[in-house]
Amino acid sequence: MKDIAEIRADFPLLNRHVYGRQLVYFDNGATTQKPQCVIDAVNEVYTSYNSNIHRGVHALSDKASEEYEKAREKVRSFINASKREEIIFTSGTTGSINGIAFSFGERFIRPGDEIIISHLEHHANIVPWQMMCERKGAKLRIIPINDAGEILFDEYLKLLSGKTKLVAVTQASNALGTILPVREIISAAHSAKVPVLIDGAQGIQHGVVDVTAMDCDFYVFSGHKIYGPTGIGVMYGKEEWLSDLPPYQGGGDMVENVTFEKTTYNELPFKFEAGTMNFAGAIGLGSALDYVLSIGRENIKARERELLHYATEKLSEIKELKIFGSSDKKISVVSFLLNDIHQYDTGMILDKMGIAVRTGTHCAQPVMDRFGIDGTVRASLCFYNTKEEIDILGTGIEKVITMFA
Ligand code: ALA
Repeated sequence: MKDIAEIRADFPLLNRHVYGRQLVYFDNGATTQKPQCVIDAVNEVYTSYNSNIHRGVHALSDKASEEYEKAREKVRSFINASKREEIIFTSGTTGSINGIAFSFGERFIRPGDEIIISHLEHHANIVPWQMMCERKGAKLRIIPINDAGEILFDEYLKLLSGKTKLVAVTQASNALGTILPVREIISAAHSAKVPVLIDGAQGIQHGVVDVTAMDCDFYVFSGHKIYGPTGIGVMYGKEEWLSDLPPYQGGGDMVENVTFEKTTYNELPFKFEAGTMNFAGAIGLGSALDYVLSIGRENIKARERELLHYATEKLSEIKELKIFGSSDKKISVVSFLLNDIHQYDTGMILDKMGIAVRTGTHCAQPVMDRFGIDGTVRASLCFYNTKEEIDILGTGIEKVITMFA
């Protein structure tokens, strides 16, 4: 593995200063910074071969189409899907879940059916299902969690029934960091012949994702959380599901033949890619995945585990600080509050010290309700962070406490 100085040099933004202080970036759960190779890949699209994909007969269009399809293959290989037809580009995790919720609802959901999600979900994996349930007269069932922020697996098993039509859970909680036992969740659902969607927004960047081994039916993630550009994401679905689902958007490229009487749809994956896709974003995402592979996913996982351990120990020494989410299976997220100091005050003061954290509900309001709080301060770390930065956060938190004493 490259040493940390070399890694940090790959990310130009990490060198910047905020309010005259060296930036400490701990908001990676919201979005990650981009290595130079990703910036260069997107730049190259616009400076040397920008042209609409799958449409022209000219050289630029051929090149753009070829690079876009290469990016699809990179995604396929990265998540170990068996076919390129199973990889659909979308605008991100939210776009992917909304698309599946709409199509799946139209095809399979009847009044009285049930969808299971967990209490740990991000709003993007709650609201699209609520909208679908409202449209179709179906019901949302929620897997409860314990005080450590872990799902109650036995309660999940009790929720699975003949009425269940789909289970949709996150791979890891963005608010608390808890990693869910997705393989066990999928295996139990499959025993009841129920498909499972995994929201990989907070999972894809923290380890090795293998959709074939996991055996999920759908897996979705965003490019910008795995060092790629914004506005690009992935919706993986097993071919048997994607072939059966109707498209959720109509337009150019997703069609085979159009007349006013009847339209037939294009084959997979194009059936779900209506209109001009974000091909520059897809190509940038391909470059981000190459970069992650060059660092090594096991290396990333090991380094983040070490950083999480260090941060948890360090912050736990501060007696005024309470951590929310204490599962021993966590991604590198530390969510906390300082006695009765409001999370926004903590976040704003840390910001003035050059430390970027996220504050609020983290788009996971039900998690906050479960703990009777209206938000937390969240430090989300990734492999380019350092122990020195965690020390700076610790010192910053001590200063916040002193200011409010
Ligand atoms: N879902 C993103 C987060 O957790 C925005 O911060």
